[in-house]
Amino acid sequence: MVRKILRYGEPVLEQRAEDVTEFDTPELRELISDMWETMYAAKGVGLAAPQVGVSKRISVIDVSVGEDESKKIVIINPEITSKEGKQTGEEGCLSIPGFREPVTRANCVTVRAKNDKGEDIELPGEELLARAFQHEIDHLNGILFINHLSALKRDIIRRKIKKLQKAGEWD
Ligand code: NI
Repeated sequence: MVRKILRYGEPVLEQRAEDVTEFDTPELRELISDMWETMYAAKGVGLAAPQVGVSKRISVIDVSVGEDESKKIVIINPEITSKEGKQTGEEGCLSIPGFREPVTRANCVTVRAKNDKGEDIELPGEELLARAFQHEIDHLNGILFINHLSALKRDIIRRKIKKLQKAGEWD
């Protein structure tokens, strides 16, 4: 089932999400399946559970956007255990549609997490995948890509969003 993607302004997007403690349950399987459907319907490369209103530490990532089954990654309770190098590139977010800005991130990261069965996994990523890991793990900590911009740029975006909200064009 495609779920509604919440937009910037919803408090759940700026809260630290809770650890997942039960794995391999029907509820978790359904949530993850819905997250995939929702992400592909929106043509995103990643989606975090808080974006569909569920404050749990779960993200799905597919940098091939549905082209390559082997690229599908589910990370639960993830932590970044190493970071190296720098990259700067345009970033957007399904919860902040219509806005893209350059963001500087680590170029290579290693992520330690659980998979959907509760097994420990360790995943290296570079370039686009490293960016997706950092963006999606930020979501689980209540951090959005606009938090990485200068205060000036962030305020400009916030003001534009406020206007869209007033016009009823932001939900
Ligand atoms: Ni996002």
